[in-house]
Amino acid sequence: MQVVRIRGGQPLDGEVTVSGAKNACLPMFAAALLTDEPCILHNVPDLSDIRFMADILQHLGAQVTRIDDNTWSITAQTIGTHAPYDLVRKMRASVCLLGPLVGRMRQAQISLPGGCVIGQRPIDLHLKGLARLGCDVTISQGYVYVDAKRLQGADVFLGGRQGSTVTGTANLLMAAVLAPGVTHIESAACEPEIVDLCHLLVSMGAQIEGIGSHALTIEGVDRLSGFNYRVVADRIQAGTFIAAGLMAPSGTVQVKGVNSNILTAFLHKLEEAQAPITVEKDTITVKGGYIRGLKPIETITLPYPGFPTDLQAQMCAIMTLTEGISIITERIYPNRFMHVPELQRMGADISIEGSSAIINGVEHLSGAPVMASDLRASAALYLAGLAAVGETWVQRIYHLDRGYDRFDEKLRDLGADIVRMEATEMPKALAESCIG
Ligand code: EPZ
Repeated sequence: MQVVRIRGGQPLDGEVTVSGAKNACLPMFAAALLTDEPCILHNVPDLSDIRFMADILQHLGAQVTRIDDNTWSITAQTIGTHAPYDLVRKMRASVCLLGPLVGRMRQAQISLPGGCVIGQRPIDLHLKGLARLGCDVTISQGYVYVDAKRLQGADVFLGGRQGSTVTGTANLLMAAVLAPGVTHIESAACEPEIVDLCHLLVSMGAQIEGIGSHALTIEGVDRLSGFNYRVVADRIQAGTFIAAGLMAPSGTVQVKGVNSNILTAFLHKLEEAQAPITVEKDTITVKGGYIRGLKPIETITLPYPGFPTDLQAQMCAIMTLTEGISIITERIYPNRFMHVPELQRMGADISIEGSSAIINGVEHLSGAPVMASDLRASAALYLAGLAAVGETWVQRIYHLDRGYDRFDEKLRDLGADIVRMEATEMPKALAESCIG
């Protein structure tokens, strides 16, 4: 188990280039099951979730090779259709194996993914959508069994209580591209990661219209070719580095390699707060040292193009130091506030009312030993540590390693005083102070 120690108050200066998007890569790895031809994916971030998805594909029988740090090759000539609990439970995104197994093999047996710390993670919309496509879906002993002998294009409505479903849309797309007939998906997710998946499927020979909208039309084809594709940049990683630049006491950070058009809601909120940012097509420049003077704002998370829930914790961290009362309301995962008690340990003045965090900006945060809980909450703790007075020790950083490649290295390259070490090297008194 590893921890990072952050000594706050260092200026951040320089350029950081954003990696490929984890949440685009995971369904794209699954999409390689749709063909028996070789598939090559470029700009893949070096993350534990990626290596994990590779393990599952190998378990199913695909040949998976890491060509270099950021390039993978997948060839699924002969594959099975059973994804076991001990693999699926560790990463719920493996649920997006359902669609390609249904499309290619006309059957799937996959463990139900279960929930996680950010809340319930149901897949009822995925299963209803597959049933609309003629699948027989049964759930027994924690597994989903899909018999898709009668797979057929159909009209599908994918909307749920919180709007569209991202991996649900990915699953329906990957089942429909090989389904006889035409499928219309209403209330589809249109996150940039879904747009990128559609472009990848089209490069394989799929027929998809309405890409980028909430209404997709797919005309099934008999077979798909392999792909050689470069993954879109990770907008959430970009937003996290922009937040880091804002929270530093001084300096200028240039976040490069992401199309600012896919970060509009986040950048719009920062502009509303009068943050010192300059937006160009694929570079966002941000200045540290002005956070206290930002304007307090209200943020509500929504499906794309709304404010992304995956940047909610990072926005929370920013607002802990912004004078005045800011409110962040979580409409996607109402309980996604695991970062709040840890930020409170650092002196943040936050209260939770239902699915809203009410944040009263304070003069400064104080370093403390804190516990990471989920991917984005962990990132918020790193951000708070960069701004805090004194030392912050973030434990259980394996949560962060799932979605951010070399995050501490990249922050150190910008000037942060951040060191990764084994948990055993953490002062014992500190470690004990936060065993809860
Ligand atoms: C994707 O998860 C992302 N993960 C999440 O990122 C992201 O937070 C989420 O979309 C929302 O943008 C990947 O892409 C691998 P949803 P997903 O299905 O697809 C409800 C991160 O930090 N819902 O769009 O699982 C659900 O409970 C991760 O990188 C149903 O009710 O999310 C939630 O409230 C965390 N029934 C909302 O819809 C369903 O069948 C959105 O869920 C499916 C979802």
